[in-house]
Amino acid sequence: MRLLFIGDVVGGIGRRTVRALLPVLRERHALDFVVVNGENMAGGVGITPKGAEELFGLGVDAITLGNHTYRHREVYAYLDSEPRILRPANFLRGQPGHGSCVVERDGVRLGVVSLQGNLFMKTGRPAFSEADAVLHDLDGRVDHVLVDMHAEATSEKVGMGWHLDGRVTAVVGTHTHVPTSDARILPGGTAYITDVGMTGSRDGVIGVRREQALEALITHMPVRFETAEEDPWLMGALITASQPMRADAIEPVLEPARDVE
Ligand SMILES: [Fe+2]
Ligand SMILES: [Fe+2]
Repeated sequence: MRLLFIGDVVGGIGRRTVRALLPVLRERHALDFVVVNGENMAGGVGITPKGAEELFGLGVDAITLGNHTYRHREVYAYLDSEPRILRPANFLRGQPGHGSCVVERDGVRLGVVSLQGNLFMKTGRPAFSEADAVLHDLDGRVDHVLVDMHAEATSEKVGMGWHLDGRVTAVVGTHTHVPTSDARILPGGTAYITDVGMTGSRDGVIGVRREQALEALITHMPVRFETAEEDPWLMGALITASQPMRADAIEPVLEPARDVE
């Protein structure tokens, strides 16, 4: 099983980067599954049904989200009706959407789970007990499980890696948009990385045009943010596995998109 997870796709430049590089990476790595965090697809914040459909059209198997899930009202009904798009499972039960799904390719069943941290974020219910509940629900229905832990605090992400070690194939971190250099296989066989990075412009401040981000940082006044456009990169992680719920390897994918504008 060869799975590419792609970190937060930011804006139009992020979408164009995925469109340009996914076929190349699919061939290079003989990918079985592709999962994408899409919480920043629409203008840098949130996602629309059209954006999600574009990813599914590229052969993406599932989309995970995060704290920007509900920015665009038009996606609410779509979150309820489309099984392959996931908002964090530990949001309030009354919020639109659901937090896990099972996708299948060539007889291999992959469970995908979206979770969000509880530190410094508005997340309705606890991530750790919800992770246990979701795994209980997936039990017997999957060969592999990928968990996207969308969180601000590195401690919470590392903790989730240990909590799920030996029980899922991979725990990958998102939200901070900056790749970490701690990709490894934990002792129980779970692939882990604290943050895979983002997909979009490396020229700005975690996706925002840098002069606007700097103005806000320097003046402490409200500034209208736009998506940075230069120097696009696709960032993610490649996970391989030869037996159920155990990863053989995880390696960061940091790929510049040279001809994308
Ligand atoms: Fe993000
Ligand atoms: Fe986020």
